[in-house]
Amino acid sequence: MRQAGRYMPEYRAVRARHSLLEIVKTPELAVEVTLQPIRAFELDAAIIFADLLPPLEGMGLQLTYEKGEGPVIHNPLRTPADIAALRVPDSRESVGYTLDAIRLAKRELADRVPLIGFAGAPFTLASYAIEGGSSRDYRRTKQLMHAQPDAWHLLMSKLSAMVSDYALAQIAAGVDAVQLFDSWAGALAPDDYAEHVLPYVQQCVAAIKGQEPRTENREPSVGLAGSRFSVLGSPAPVIYFGTDMSGMLPLLRQTGADVIGVDWRIQLDDAWAQLGPGLAVQGNLDPMTLFASWPRIEQRAAAILDRAAGRPGHIFNLGHGILTETPVDHVARLAEFVHEYSSDRVTR
Ligand code: CP3
Repeated sequence: MRQAGRYMPEYRAVRARHSLLEIVKTPELAVEVTLQPIRAFELDAAIIFADLLPPLEGMGLQLTYEKGEGPVIHNPLRTPADIAALRVPDSRESVGYTLDAIRLAKRELADRVPLIGFAGAPFTLASYAIEGGSSRDYRRTKQLMHAQPDAWHLLMSKLSAMVSDYALAQIAAGVDAVQLFDSWAGALAPDDYAEHVLPYVQQCVAAIKGQEPRTENREPSVGLAGSRFSVLGSPAPVIYFGTDMSGMLPLLRQTGADVIGVDWRIQLDDAWAQLGPGLAVQGNLDPMTLFASWPRIEQRAAAILDRAAGRPGHIFNLGHGILTETPVDHVARLAEFVHEYSSDRVTR
């Protein structure tokens, strides 16, 4: 959940000299920033430093990051003709810099911890491409989805093809798992998610895992007595993450992902019960908790681990991205505490 970033002085030092896009597009800088949190904290995996939106440049969209405003797309998609004109690039050409950064990061990490790659999921990418930046109500995105089903289908199909190719290229370059960020899909009603978004997520997950898309009535393959930790069995597990999706957990099971990331708006065990067996769950500390005093942070982290109750397949994490100005010593102490507390409690 944004391991690297502005809360770290080491990151701010690199950012003082380079723009975000320069860091993302210069493999040596991206790797330096990828490794900063690994050096600073007891983390169990590294996340390649990149961003959700640069892969849209290869499709024909013009992207900048503006101070205070976040990402801006200067030629947002406004007509079916704009969507028809989008290219589906070869990731090796359009985002070769991230693939190079992955190879370099793998060498530097030398298997000390696994490396996680990531991509935006089709809906979340579509929302930026259509709105031209961050949005409160996703008005134009939902309008297109409802009013122009053919254009929506074409856009989501192109994004799914791009995302699948990009994720597979990251796996080929060496990542050990891929996280798909559908950060804003929780803005949808469950029926709209099921009809207009889920089939494309299923396509991406199936392509990444080299399988046929999962259909509604096909249960995920659960191994011996339901005890399979699917993450361990998969060459590159897929993590699907969204926020505000507590009302659609049974739909998330149908994505086919190995791991579902949940935010803090639901108790972890309740989410897990709704997701069902055979899935791993990632989460779910409110990132704002890190601004509290240490005893409160410890109490909240312990409560999450207690709800996970030592079941295999819980990945302790924040429920969403770490915030700027988060106290760095709280992050360090949290990582240590999670290790200590879970080594006491895990039942093997
Ligand atoms: O975890 C990591 O270390 C990997 C880095 C990472 C970044 N972005 C780098 C970044 C990851 C995983 C992302 C994902 C991302 N990018 C998402 C999904 C995450 C989520 O919150 O659900 C989204 C929506 C984006 C697009 C994006 N990029 C936004 C909305 C912003 C915020 C703009 C702002 O000014 O706050 C960014 C910028 C960005 N991406 C930063 C970082 C570290 C901060 C920019 C900076 O250094 O100035």
